[in-house]
Amino acid sequence: MYSRIVGTGSYLPAKVVTNFDLAQRMDTSDVWIRERTGIERRHIIGDSESNVDMAEHAARAAVAAAGLEPGDIDLISYGTTTPDLVFPNCGCLLQARLGCRGAPAFSLEAACSGFMYALAMADKFVRSGDSKRALVVGSEVLSRITDQSDRSTAILFGDGAGAVVLTPSEQPGIISTHLHADGTYQNLLYCTGGPARGPAPGNMPAGNYVRMAGSEVFKLAVTLLGRIVDETLALNHLDRSAIDWLVPHQANLRIIQAVARKLGLPMERVIVTVQEHGNTSTASVPLALDVGVRDGRIKRGDLLLLEALGGGVTWGSALLRY
Ligand code: ACO
Repeated sequence: MYSRIVGTGSYLPAKVVTNFDLAQRMDTSDVWIRERTGIERRHIIGDSESNVDMAEHAARAAVAAAGLEPGDIDLISYGTTTPDLVFPNCGCLLQARLGCRGAPAFSLEAACSGFMYALAMADKFVRSGDSKRALVVGSEVLSRITDQSDRSTAILFGDGAGAVVLTPSEQPGIISTHLHADGTYQNLLYCTGGPARGPAPGNMPAGNYVRMAGSEVFKLAVTLLGRIVDETLALNHLDRSAIDWLVPHQANLRIIQAVARKLGLPMERVIVTVQEHGNTSTASVPLALDVGVRDGRIKRGDLLLLEALGGGVTWGSALLRY
C-alpha cells in the first residue's frame, strides 16, 4: 500500500512587498537581492490574518481538488514554526474550521523542512491503514519573526501556505521519504527566543527574531541537499535521469540551481516560485507543487523529487509518482 497525492492547494496573502519597497527602507537594492537570491517580491499577512487563516485557504483548495469535502479528512499533519498559539496546536485550530471533528490533528516544527516531515508522518499513517484521507499542511508567518532592520534576513522571508491530500493507493504514490537532522548546527540558523527560554516565566519576551549565518547555511544546504539526492536515488536504484521534476524548497535560486546541476536537470524541469514569494519556510514546497500542478507542467505519472533544508538543521526529501 502506498499513499498518493490526490489534491494540492496554496495561498499567498494579498499584500506584496517588492525589492524596491525594501530598498526604500534599508541599505539594499533590487539587483543585489535578485542576483544573490532570485527573490523579486514577498507576500506579507495583514494584521488581522493568521497562520491558520492561510492554512484554511490552502487546505480547502487541496480538499476540493481531491474531490472531497473538508469533513472527510481523517488526519491533519501540520508543519509550522510560527503557530498562532503555543497550544492548541494549529492542526486542532484548523480541524475545528474544517469540521472534521475527532480526526487526529497535530503540528510539528522543523523550520523550512517542516513540510517534508509532515508529509513523511502522514505517509506512514496512510500506508499503515490508519488514515484514508490525510491532510498535510505547511503554513508559515515568518514576517512576524523577521527583524525588519536586519537586511541579511529581511529580504529573504515571506508568508504563505500550501497543502496536499493523501489517500491510499495500490500504485505509487509516495515511493520513499528521507528525513535527517543535525542539532549541532543549531547556532547557524535559529530564532532568538521562545516561551520556555527567557527571563520572566510566562512572559514571552518581545523581539524574537530569526538569526542566520547566511553563507555557512548556504554551503551546508548545497552539501546536505546534494547528499540527500544521492541517498534518495540510491535507495530506489534510480539513475538521476529518471526524475521528471524537482520541486525544491524555495529559499534561494542559487541553492536550487546547485541541486538541479547535481541531478543533471535543466532548469526547465525545476519548479521555481521563489521570485514570487521569497522563502516561505514550511509552505514553500507545497506552494511550488501546487503551482506546477495547476499550471499543467506536472502531470499524472511524473516522477517528482521534493527536498528542503531548514533550521535545526533539518533536511528531508520525498520521491513520488504524482
Ligand atoms: N543587500 C545588500 N548587501 C547585503 C545584503 C542586502 N540585503 N545582505 C548582506 N549584504 C552584504 C553583506 O554585508 C556582505 O558585505 P561585505 O562583503 O561588505 O561584508 C555581502 O553582502 C555578502 O554577504 P554574504 O552574507 O556573504 O552574501 P551571500 O552571497 O552569502 O548571500 C544570503 C546572503 C542570500 C542570505 C545567502 O547566504 C543565503 O541564501 N543563505 C541560505 C539561506 C537558506 O537557505 N536558509 C535555509 C532555510 S531558512 C529557515 O530554515 C528558516
